[in-house]
Amino acid sequence: MSKSADPAALAGLFDAAKAAQSRAYAPYSRFHVGAAILTPSGAIYAGCNVENAAYPQGACAEAGAIGAMIAGGERLIAEILVIGDGDALVTPCGGCRQRIREFAALDAPIHIAGPEGLRATFTLDELLPHSFGPEHLK
Ligand code: THU
Repeated sequence: MSKSADPAALAGLFDAAKAAQSRAYAPYSRFHVGAAILTPSGAIYAGCNVENAAYPQGACAEAGAIGAMIAGGERLIAEILVIGDGDALVTPCGGCRQRIREFAALDAPIHIAGPEGLRATFTLDELLPHSFGPEHLK
């Protein structure tokens, strides 16, 4: 675990992710996830998981939040918060760790929350060590 966010920013991320989680479309897993991204401008972009009857076509909450950020004209994730239910930490899946890697610094905080609040904070590098990113293609 590593550094945590400014308390006001964290509260904004938590509220946005929780609101998105409440709108998740997850009729198959019944596992509702929300994600919220804080950008350097101070804007917050949220997303939720959107499942599909053709199961592999489902999308994670993080992917939705990243899509909202890009559509909003921004390209840098300062911090991201993911919220899920249950006792286990809902850390981003492997694919979403790589999606976050595209738009975040290695020391960007990834906050994991449950319904009651923040549970843990990791850096991207902790969750995706020795990673491959855009700079490898330059
Ligand atoms: N899910 C996310 O949206 N984000 C994660 O980080 C973990 C998993 C979703 C995908 C699927 O709709 C449901 O949770 C169960 O895996």
